[in-house]
Amino acid sequence: MSVPTVHSEKKGSNLNIIVDSRENIARRAADLYSEVLASKPDAVLGFATGSTPLDLYAELIARVKAGKLSFKDVTTFNLDEYVGLEPTHDQSYRYFMDKNLFEHIDLDSKRVNIPSGIAVGEGESAAYEAAIAAAGGIDMQLLGIGHNGHIGFNEPNTPFGSLTHKVTLTDSTIEANSRFFASRDEVPKEAVTMGIRTVMNARRLVLIALGEGKAEIIKKTVQGPVTEEVPASVLQLHPDAYIFADFEAAKYL
Ligand code: PGA
Repeated sequence: MSVPTVHSEKKGSNLNIIVDSRENIARRAADLYSEVLASKPDAVLGFATGSTPLDLYAELIARVKAGKLSFKDVTTFNLDEYVGLEPTHDQSYRYFMDKNLFEHIDLDSKRVNIPSGIAVGEGESAAYEAAIAAAGGIDMQLLGIGHNGHIGFNEPNTPFGSLTHKVTLTDSTIEANSRFFASRDEVPKEAVTMGIRTVMNARRLVLIALGEGKAEIIKKTVQGPVTEEVPASVLQLHPDAYIFADFEAAKYL
């Protein structure tokens, strides 16, 4: 896919924007998983961490426990991981995914892929891209959004053409994520993240934004120019992207 790296003044787009209550968003986003897995039980799914997907994950777990959904043939790829944290560290994204989703569903742990925060380098990043390609590409990638518009750990001004790479976190991201650590100093300063192009190569994107704190960045993402200054604005260029926003996050739309 060729993704422009220049700014554009394009307004409006093909985005599917769904505004609803927080509870209904979890259910309606879960419906997309039910649809995808009904037509492709061995789908390749991209997952995300953060507070935002927790309700969706709880809904997916409930559907698996009710026998309505199965991940037994699914392959997963996560967006990102902190550099320096072992998979067993309670703030690693691997640990987050295990505790909040993977341990509770019928997923084969051999088909779980999360960038390593320990073996970090260009070779590992290239291997992550190769693993995605070998799996046939990502059918549906879940995204949260940072207050600065980051997707994954692609901070503002990350090139739209970027693939999986190591990044230095911005102060605002370190600050936002410090709520999960004992102190700000313990927040890792670096991470490995899928790039913008890696994300855009997924056949479907599902971005969820909850709460008033995301209202301004959602307006820029949806209605502002497509620009590397607002990484999530690139979704306007995707042919099959969904943005789920609760009433608070959608208040400026
Ligand atoms: P949050 O993080 O879900 O905890 O708000 C989203 C993000 O930073 O991508």
